[in-house]
Amino acid sequence: MQHDGLSSLLDELARVATLPLERGETLPARAYTSEHFHDLEQERVFRGDWLCVGHVSQVTGPGDYLRTDVLGEPLVITRDESGDLHALSRVCRHRFMDVLPPETTPEQGTLKRLTCPYHTWTYRLNGEYVGQLAGAPLMNRVDFDRAACRLPRHRLEVWNGLLMVSAAPDAPALGPQLTRLDAVLAPYRLADLVVAYTARWENVPANWKVAFENGSENYHHMGTHAATLEPVVPGKDTVVEECDGRGFSMFTPFAADPSLEPDADGVPQAGTLIPGLGARQLSGMTVAGVFPNLALALVPDSVTYLRWIPTGPTSHDALVTVLVPPAAVDQPGYAAYVAASRQQLELIQEEDLVAIRGVQRGLATEPAPSGGRFSHLERPLWQFQRYLAGRLVGGRQ
Ligand code: FES
Ligand SMILES: [Fe+2]
Repeated sequence: MQHDGLSSLLDELARVATLPLERGETLPARAYTSEHFHDLEQERVFRGDWLCVGHVSQVTGPGDYLRTDVLGEPLVITRDESGDLHALSRVCRHRFMDVLPPETTPEQGTLKRLTCPYHTWTYRLNGEYVGQLAGAPLMNRVDFDRAACRLPRHRLEVWNGLLMVSAAPDAPALGPQLTRLDAVLAPYRLADLVVAYTARWENVPANWKVAFENGSENYHHMGTHAATLEPVVPGKDTVVEECDGRGFSMFTPFAADPSLEPDADGVPQAGTLIPGLGARQLSGMTVAGVFPNLALALVPDSVTYLRWIPTGPTSHDALVTVLVPPAAVDQPGYAAYVAASRQQLELIQEEDLVAIRGVQRGLATEPAPSGGRFSHLERPLWQFQRYLAGRLVGGRQ
């Protein structure tokens, strides 16, 4: 028997996931507060699916690495001398130390081998031997099988320049599930962009789904972002275009020039355009989402990708990374552009956090609120329920 009313919660999820959009309803409130629901999501959604951990520009050359933590699991992404990428566990096979502890090593860098700083066991980073033990000092007087000692690997796929990893050996390949989004993203050539910066908000007091759902609709521009986004990308003009099994995209034409005003010193802060964009990309903003927790906002001078990572049933970390064309970095106004972009992002995020925290407080009330209704602009949330039901209800997909 399942705990915490989990069984009835899953029944309710199954019910709402069969409603047509015209009669679509919000998820049951306890899906945003229940510890048992959270545990099931961890197992079947987050450990069973593909998660974004970074961008290819963070690991461009042989020996480059990027440290990343996926739901408490320490990983390192490495590129070998053939150009292949790997996702390795950072848990040393000796006494399980983090081989790249954040206290003493940078998040990104270049290495010939991985050396655990505790007792200096080393691991190879090349090709088919990646993760294999290379050396373990003073281990020759005991019966120790070096050949069997290897850092565990996760699966890794590059999708439109994003590094996607999966802990599940049996998860179906991601790329073939997202071909409809590929056409939407292709003009922005994400793989050719570079990271300008990543902003983080840790332990936001709301379930991750509240934040993901907030990022999956522009309906709230007219309320939450009335003075910021709404004049430029009005929610009412948004058209939800793709909404298939595990992703969505929507397009909003610009109602005003989105370029940032010159700063007080007259330095132009408009960004460098992503090369090769067509009239459509230049005339509006595309928002795309990949379930469970990745959304992208694509505009003419940048692509921003957002991740919401659960840290408990009612808390999450939000990570927002801004990608720009490499030519932007060499422009004289680049530092001012990045500063203005960060400032704008922080302003928008503060607005969103008011809504996200406010919704979480509403969800935690007794008796639990239920039966909230969707606008047509919330079709991605409706589709998200189908994705969740597919993974959580009944057998694993
Ligand atoms: S824990 Fe890594 S060498 Fe001992
Ligand atoms: Fe928002």
